[in-house]
Amino acid sequence: MAENNKVRVAIVGATAYTSREAIRWLLVHPGVDIVALCSRRDPQPRIDEVFPELAGRLELRCEPIDAAALKGRVDVVMMCLPNGLTMDLAPRLLDAGMRVIDFSADYRLKEPAEYQQWYGKEHTDLGNLARAVYGLPEAYREKIRTAALIANPGCYPTSAALGIIPLLRAGLIEAKDIIVDAASGISGAGRDPKPEHHFPERHETFEAYKIGEHRHMVEIERTLDPYVRASKSSVIFTPHLIPMERGILSTIYLHPRQPVSTEHVMQVFAETYQNEPFVRLRKSPPRTGDVARTNFCDLTARVVKSRIIVLSAIDNMVKGAAGQAIQNMNIMFGRKETEGLV
Ligand SMILES: NC(=O)c1ccc[n+]([C@@H]2O[C@H](COP(=O)([O-])OP(=O)(O)OC[C@H]3O[C@@H](n4cnc5c(N)ncnc54)[C@H](OP(=O)(O)O)[C@@H]3O)[C@@H](O)[C@H]2O)c1
Repeated sequence: MAENNKVRVAIVGATAYTSREAIRWLLVHPGVDIVALCSRRDPQPRIDEVFPELAGRLELRCEPIDAAALKGRVDVVMMCLPNGLTMDLAPRLLDAGMRVIDFSADYRLKEPAEYQQWYGKEHTDLGNLARAVYGLPEAYREKIRTAALIANPGCYPTSAALGIIPLLRAGLIEAKDIIVDAASGISGAGRDPKPEHHFPERHETFEAYKIGEHRHMVEIERTLDPYVRASKSSVIFTPHLIPMERGILSTIYLHPRQPVSTEHVMQVFAETYQNEPFVRLRKSPPRTGDVARTNFCDLTARVVKSRIIVLSAIDNMVKGAAGQAIQNMNIMFGRKETEGLV
């Protein structure tokens, strides 16, 4: 830690959308100094050339991605790289005494075979995979405090897990019959241009994609499994793209194990989340607009024809990425969990 007691943060993949979001929050965080921004670009850009809104606020020039050059200058590294890259760099950062918060999926699935199956690549850092902590504070706060390596959860899994875990933990629902229909804004796909994400392809149209094949389906299941009493969970996950910049709304269909009322389900949520600073219970259906640019997850539930319907809204780049990473950082460094986030 720096002499001024501030956490020294570096961001790798500094030109990413999620990095931009992290920078926006970290600049107003009273306990943080952004000391390094790393990129593969050559020549290295100044960050306010990439994100002009940072002009006059942060004018750091990016530097190459080099663990040795960060050693001694940095307490925690936020990794905003595509899947499959953090596992090459994290071992060197951890060996050099830095803590790591990975925004990608490299350390989220504990089973190497499952990582290979869903990400099409052999996992090359099994030691750190075993000790990485899944960074969902509402579920793993105590482990996060001492973790060297955080697997920051995926955006869809965050919205789904927060709506399901309390009901599984209370023994209220079947684990085998969970349906999650979720819609995300386009920023969820990142900054790299792809033809299918161009404005004319996305404007005024709404569609499902990767039905039964999205990698977040298995991540949701593995996140729920610790709360399932016998065997494992089974989730059908259908993601959708919606023509808005940011936000995720998950509509979750659950089978109660016994007849249950809306009031009872909401009571379970209220008891679970009474001390959680970033989960808000709503009477009316949550809206992505109400959580945009915030670290909140807004939740509500209804019982309809013997099914529980849970609605969960987050901002994919805040509670679904950078905000949750900062929440994790605050916990790891013994700071107030909400610092810099409200
Ligand atoms: N977007 C979201 O809502 C969201 C939510 C949760 C988690 N995530 C995860 O967070 C990570 C970052 O997502 P994002 O959407 O912010 O990504 P993004 O906007 O597409 O940016 C990706 C970044 O990675 C860099 N990069 C790409 N290939 C590289 C390579 N081979 N070596 C070094 N750097 C490389 C790019 O650098 P250049 O400047 O060189 O292009 C860019 O800075 C991903 O793993 C994503 O799955 C994203």
